[in-house]
Amino acid sequence: MPTKILIIGASGQIGTELSLKLREIHGSDAVIASDIREGSEELMASGPFEIANAMDYEQIAGLVEKHQIEDVYLMAAMLSATGEKAPMKAWGLNMDSLFHVLNLAKDKKIKRVFWPSSIAVFGPSTPKENTPQTTIMEPTTVYGISKQTGERWCSYYNKKYGVDVRSIRYPGIISYKTLPGGGTTDYAVEIFHEAIKDGKYTSFLTASTSLPMMFMEDAIKATVDIMEAPTEAIKVRSSYNLAAMSFTPESLAEEIKKYIPTFEISYEPDFRQDIADSWPSSIDDNAAREDWGWSHNFDIVALTEAMLNGIKAQLVVK
Ligand SMILES: NC(=O)c1ccc[n+]([C@@H]2O[C@H](COP(=O)([O-])OP(=O)(O)OC[C@H]3O[C@@H](n4cnc5c(N)ncnc54)[C@H](O)[C@@H]3O)[C@@H](O)[C@H]2O)c1
Repeated sequence: MPTKILIIGASGQIGTELSLKLREIHGSDAVIASDIREGSEELMASGPFEIANAMDYEQIAGLVEKHQIEDVYLMAAMLSATGEKAPMKAWGLNMDSLFHVLNLAKDKKIKRVFWPSSIAVFGPSTPKENTPQTTIMEPTTVYGISKQTGERWCSYYNKKYGVDVRSIRYPGIISYKTLPGGGTTDYAVEIFHEAIKDGKYTSFLTASTSLPMMFMEDAIKATVDIMEAPTEAIKVRSSYNLAAMSFTPESLAEEIKKYIPTFEISYEPDFRQDIADSWPSSIDDNAAREDWGWSHNFDIVALTEAMLNGIKAQLVVK
């Protein structure tokens, strides 16, 4: 029997591609995608979909019972930049949805939980280069505070109730299938679309802002890998550091110029600069590499090629 899976927030940037990958692995009918809104045509055509609100415990518990769900992937959240505009809403969504899922696992209604954390758990007092797995964490965004708090609760539910919850601190995720949902690293997706469309891009971060980033294919691989690892391999029950590459808007523009020589970038930093300045430049992810064998495939060169080809192929189909 395939593992029955519920994805909450399946229509988002990561949820869409995670749903498609899990359907490839476990079979379409074994993976129930859900969100408060419908997803892309590709997602909707790929298997069962339910409209559900992650903040409504009864609704989520109802789906779990109806579909006999074993694993829940909780991808619904309000991200860093959007969260700063509506702090209490971000706190409400990010915390309530996590408690609902953790409580379903505590009450043995589901077996396992995947919940993503973020590099936003770190703050200005964190060592910026090669940020260690365990270090000072004083996040300054409501999003970061919610992720750090969430990590503590995951660890608590594991220790106190034996809940099998697994988590990764995603860096900025770069993809072409679904647009990002209001994060501080969104420039690294927009830049590719604008380069192809207009040949120029205005970055909302300065030229030299270095942030940890990852291509979607690697992020999905990490998510699948950590969930496939044996329980005893998962030693960190808050959340694992995860890294692939770090770059600045300027260095990404240089890579794009190798394909589009006339590409021009300009800089108009906005409120997101403050958020970016509070985050690490690079991440030490040795714990993930040692404990469950994490390794990445995409660096900035492979990423640039994959993004430009992916966006162009989509334009041809349309
Ligand atoms: N994308 C990144 O770069 C990144 C980086 C670090 C961590 N993360 C984390 O990964 C997870 C997924 O991020 P994403 O980029 O796909 O986000 P996204 O904003 O693209 O998608 C979130 C999805 O959640 C849905 N949603 C919002 N409120 C809901 C509710 N009440 N009930 C059900 N669904 C609801 C939205 O409709 C959306 O489809 C989040 O926890 C996020 O914090 C993302």
